[in-house]
Amino acid sequence: MFEGFYTTSLVAPFVCAILVSCAYKRYTSLMARARYPPGPPRLPIIGSLLHVPNRHTWLAYERMGKDLGDDLVHLDVLGSHIIVVNSAKAATELFEKRGAIYSDRPSYTMLIDLLGFDWALVFSRYGDRFRALRKGFHPYLSPDAVIEYRPLESKSVHRLLRSLMEKPENFVASLRHMAGAIILAIAFGIEVKSEGDPHVETAEKGLGAVLLGTMPQAAMYDFFPILKNMPSWFPGAELNARTKEARHASTAMLEDPMQVTKKAMAEGKVSPSVASALLTRLEDQSATEQDRALTYVFMVLGGADTTVCALEDFFLAMTLNPDAQRKAQAEIDLVVGHERLPDWNDRQSLPYVDALVNEVLRWRNVTPTAVYHRLMVDDVYNDYFLPAGATVIPNVWYGAILHDESVYADPLSFKPERFLDPRLDKPEAAFGFGRRICPGMHLALESVWIAVVSILASFDISKTVNEKGDEIDPVDDYVDGLVAYPFPFECNIKPRSEATVKLIQLTDLED
Ligand code: HEM
Repeated sequence: MFEGFYTTSLVAPFVCAILVSCAYKRYTSLMARARYPPGPPRLPIIGSLLHVPNRHTWLAYERMGKDLGDDLVHLDVLGSHIIVVNSAKAATELFEKRGAIYSDRPSYTMLIDLLGFDWALVFSRYGDRFRALRKGFHPYLSPDAVIEYRPLESKSVHRLLRSLMEKPENFVASLRHMAGAIILAIAFGIEVKSEGDPHVETAEKGLGAVLLGTMPQAAMYDFFPILKNMPSWFPGAELNARTKEARHASTAMLEDPMQVTKKAMAEGKVSPSVASALLTRLEDQSATEQDRALTYVFMVLGGADTTVCALEDFFLAMTLNPDAQRKAQAEIDLVVGHERLPDWNDRQSLPYVDALVNEVLRWRNVTPTAVYHRLMVDDVYNDYFLPAGATVIPNVWYGAILHDESVYADPLSFKPERFLDPRLDKPEAAFGFGRRICPGMHLALESVWIAVVSILASFDISKTVNEKGDEIDPVDDYVDGLVAYPFPFECNIKPRSEATVKLIQLTDLED
């Protein structure tokens, strides 16, 4: 027995050494053979700088991929590498299977150094702090946990119906108010006023700062960090003129609502919220940096901004696609009738409405390039060399992932029916990938669903008409930034009947 043991213990290290050396040789030979993925032409020193898109990055990167005939595109800007991932296959392989090395975030000079968003999980670097924060989210955002928020969401949606009825032309402001109300109540236990609430305004300004920090021009600050010290008349440093105010907004977004929760707790008047739960857990009632960050990130990229964008896309889709609207309304009428508004128990019986929500998220993506990832060590994929430190952009959009015509026939058309086919997966890529996938996905899907089904049950949405009675086509374009809002557009929002008007008034009174 001992003889065998000695033989094994002597041989094992040799075997291991040989295996490691073979693996290392294979790795180095792969590295030696590997080349960067194809990319646009490069110039000396500045590399591909002139090809970094400054509008609709997702469309520009998709076009580059098609022209180059590959699902990866490589840009080298002054020695900084950008890899664009233009297919679901590559995205799954890199962000999910190799998630351990593709889950970092780039350093984001504008957002972090100038606007002070280092507290937000969404921009935080991969590591122990990130893992602890993400884990901390789970109890509040898991599929089971979000069911608790349903009464609050229903109430906020009923208020939304009332404001859509009273001021249809202000539909975007009403959507913003509803999303802000949901997130402020869940995170901080704050019940917002129906109009002009200061907390909603603070959150709005903070989200404006995120938009500023993620405009395509902000990327120039990553390539030329010296821009942050330049006066705003200096070419490329124009955004500096807006950073002071935006930084103030980012700090206010961080501090203001938490003060409200703390004060309410001190006065013994606190409503249940993530913040109060966290603060109660900490005996001295002063949140650690980690817990504060955990609470505040609910708002950034959270309910307020992304949910509003998804619902604006829904209004645009309904304005442009009356047939889909009618089909969804017919389904709701059959299942719910006209005596009440839809509720959560109807969900299983409304497959077309579910399909319509999925199609909204696929058709126009809220975050068409998700949030950028960063590769942590050198890697090889399909014989391509991908260097450590590269910014890796998941192009969720057009022709790339959610508009891939081999998966979604006629991808630019709005066709909810496609999601009635059980073989087609839900458009999960809209929520990103792997270890950084959106932790608010379940909450977002619930909020969007209850808003969509309630609006469809109550209103007809159509194109506006000019004085001659001709229909006006809505503007169909997008704001650049992390969240791609539709450009402001007009539509007609009319209660479906007198009975609907009464129902909306009655439900609002009952809440
Ligand atoms: C329709 C609504 C929403 C969409 C389309 C959306 C989309 C996304 C995407 C694409 C990412 C980046 C994923 C990646 O890097 O691969 C993300 C991250 C994130 N989302 Fe959402 N989101 C939505 C709603 C929400 C809500 C309601 C919350 C919070 C309550 C939330 C909280 C977050 C957070 C904290 C992150 C950062 C995660 C990390 O960096 O690890 N999101 N979201």
